Amino acid sequence: MSEEYQVTMSYNNETTVTLESATNNQVATSYNVAQSIEDLGNVDTSALDKTGSTTNNYVMVYDATAQGYKFVNPDAVLYANLFGNLVDYENIKEFCNLRKIPLIEDAAQSMGAIYKKIPSGKLGDISIFSFDPMKNLPSFGTGGMVLTDSDKHYKNIISLRRHGFGMKYEYGYNSLISEDHCNQLLFLFGKFKSLQKKRKQIASWYFELLPDLNFIRQEETTGIFHKTTISSYHKLVLLADKRRDLQKQLESHGIETKIHYKRTLDSNNFGRYPNAERLCSNAISLPIYPFLKEEEVEYICKTIKLFYGV
Ligand SMILES: Cc1ncc(COP(=O)(O)O)c(C=O)c1O
Repeated sequence: MSEEYQVTMSYNNETTVTLESATNNQVATSYNVAQSIEDLGNVDTSALDKTGSTTNNYVMVYDATAQGYKFVNPDAVLYANLFGNLVDYENIKEFCNLRKIPLIEDAAQSMGAIYKKIPSGKLGDISIFSFDPMKNLPSFGTGGMVLTDSDKHYKNIISLRRHGFGMKYEYGYNSLISEDHCNQLLFLFGKFKSLQKKRKQIASWYFELLPDLNFIRQEETTGIFHKTTISSYHKLVLLADKRRDLQKQLESHGIETKIHYKRTLDSNNFGRYPNAERLCSNAISLPIYPFLKEEEVEYICKTIKLFYGV
């Protein structure tokens, strides 16, 4: 990583590629990509610069101190499969291959998702799962897993998780997951397929019962629809008019909802990412977990229909 920027890349909810520096006073964005995005709700990966050119690089860094933009070449790309929906991986992968930079998949929300037969967790040179209690494979407590086919990355990661053991000039962390959590996870892993099947079923109940509402769905967010590409259904997010009132109405009927997310990554610069900001003000996450019953989904949908008078 370059010392100056240490950029990481992620999807800013729906619209833009943003790059954040470790020092937090610089934020990079593929500005022309951001500009070219309309209502699809995700980054337009086909607009990525595939020439591999480093002089004509589309990536710009916003330098808050200088109040201006400069061009940089990213050292790595980190992308997140938000809500369990997969982004258009092939375009990003091609972009990284041309620049010979690693692609890091944030698969915290997408365990169980599949991109054209490739499972999430294999969609990066390095892929990362999270096992926090809200995730598709949860543990009571925290934990995660890093996957890679690269020997070099593997050795670094093994060392970093244990105080940098074996590395000459690097400090690491204490990131060892406890035996207890591993046991819980191994137990649940045996049931993962059936848990995923239930999530998918629950999502389809919502889609059937509320056909006219605007859900963020795999095919719409990625702009790709492929019968072998499936979401992990980690979150079920609705773009809702009068969100605050809807949330109150659901709450008064005993239905808990959450807002993912209230702010964009670049919320200090309000107005820069209008699509992402619109999402932040409309999105509401409805209950979805494998043990939700059909009659409960019916009750939730009925309450929503009543609210909108549909
Ligand atoms: C997309 C995404 N990335 C990363 C994380 C962080 O995971 P962890 O808390 O296990 O480090 C989360 C957790 O909510 C997430 O949703």
